[in-house]
Amino acid sequence: MLISKALNVARLIWRPFYRASRPGVRLYNRERIRRTSIDALIAEQAANFAALDLDFQKAQKKVNDLVGEQVDLKSHRSQHYELFVAFSESFEPRRILEIGTADGSFAAFLSMVFPVAKIDTLDLPEADPRFFNATSLEIPTQPNKETNNNYAESISKRKRNLSSSSNIRFVAKNSLFLSRSEGYKYDLIWVDGDHTYPVVACDIANAVRLVADGGFIFCDDVFLSKGQKGKWGSQETAQTLVSYEAAGVLKNNFILKSIRPEKNYSKLVRKHISVSKLLVTGQDVVSFEN
Ligand SMILES: C[S@@+](CC[C@H](N)C(=O)[O-])C[C@H]1O[C@@H](n2cnc3c(N)ncnc32)[C@H](O)[C@@H]1O
Repeated sequence: MLISKALNVARLIWRPFYRASRPGVRLYNRERIRRTSIDALIAEQAANFAALDLDFQKAQKKVNDLVGEQVDLKSHRSQHYELFVAFSESFEPRRILEIGTADGSFAAFLSMVFPVAKIDTLDLPEADPRFFNATSLEIPTQPNKETNNNYAESISKRKRNLSSSSNIRFVAKNSLFLSRSEGYKYDLIWVDGDHTYPVVACDIANAVRLVADGGFIFCDDVFLSKGQKGKWGSQETAQTLVSYEAAGVLKNNFILKSIRPEKNYSKLVRKHISVSKLLVTGQDVVSFEN
């Protein structure tokens, strides 16, 4: 009680200083963005792809041919489009799982890139306070305003996207229900639901269980920097993946999530997409002798 009162007073004192410093910080960041070379980012991304035996330039051209150049910078489109396309050159998944459907744009894109694969995608029921709200560390008690504003539009877009191809199946369910799923194994799993602990750790654990031998798990929005603070989560993804790699279950690689300077000017804003290969096989399962 006393501590929370003291914190509130400290916040009140600090607020004017914080506000006064904002224009200076914005100016400083603008200069850092200006100094971040897009050519260097493209070269870095090409090297990240090459480390995975993937061709970045070829993938970039194919993505632009399929869906055009990116114009809406606020959309969910990022370098995962190039990543999946590059993989499609040498990898033929029969089943793909996407955790976090959002408006279904990416599921529709996957169905173009992998026309013979079965694509299963799930998202929260619309009434869930967490719907369309995956990275905030604050736990909401009701659907967020942004969701409500775009609600009808996003849902009708999702209907159109999901019905664009007969190889997409959608369920409105919390991904935590995957903990009790049995049956299918997936060759490729895209973990892009709730990015905060504990859900993301559960999603990755479920992905490890549901991925087929030799299959891959990709995770979105990975902060590799330990310095990332504030109300956005996702160092939790890296921490979980690192634990799986240390145990010898996964081998992790990372690519940049964006090749735009404004998304890379500091390690605190720079995000990655992880590419993890399952190393263990059916023979490695834990079993106790009788
Ligand atoms: C970043 S969006 C997904 C974007 C999409 N995968 C793409 O590539 O364009 C994250 C989505 O995860 C959903 N989500 C959050 N928590 C979830 C959970 N526990 N189970 C299923 N979906 C969840 C949110 O409702 C939101 O639509």
